[in-house]
Amino acid sequence: MFTKLDIKLKRHNVTTEEFRGDHLATYGYISYYKIKKAYMILPFELFRLMPERVTWTEVDAKANLPHRDYGIKTNINVYVDPADALTTFFSIKEGAEAWTPDPTQFYPNLYHHKDLEVYDTFKAQPYEAFLLDVTQVHEVSGIVGDPRKIIQLSWATKSYQEILDALNLT
Ligand SMILES: [Fe+2]
Repeated sequence: MFTKLDIKLKRHNVTTEEFRGDHLATYGYISYYKIKKAYMILPFELFRLMPERVTWTEVDAKANLPHRDYGIKTNINVYVDPADALTTFFSIKEGAEAWTPDPTQFYPNLYHHKDLEVYDTFKAQPYEAFLLDVTQVHEVSGIVGDPRKIIQLSWATKSYQEILDALNLT
């Protein structure tokens, strides 16, 4: 469901002022921005994976509910400021159903904790990179300070396993 990547970033002194570009979209607690000068941070091996979107992503919430991501299958998150958050991935109990607070706006992608079992957790350190299967149910909690700042490479059409294979980690 996730893999810590053994990649070397080109630099670690990444500031919002230097790298956050134009605002793209905000959905609730998560805001997406263009990223400036990504080549100054990300190694070539990540561009070779042909990410379908690269954003500077900021997350304002102290916690979110267990969910599957909308529209995106796979992310590589480079945690510029992980805000000490804990990411938890879950497996789903037999027969559990997803829910949504507003069926007219969103298809069901949320889950109740009672329907879940913890599969695995991680706490990223600054500038660590993780490959995430966001089609699996996950949540973020325990955030200290706001917002979390993430350089995010995303794929809507490629699975976690395809990216993992491309990274030659298997
Ligand atoms: Fe998510």
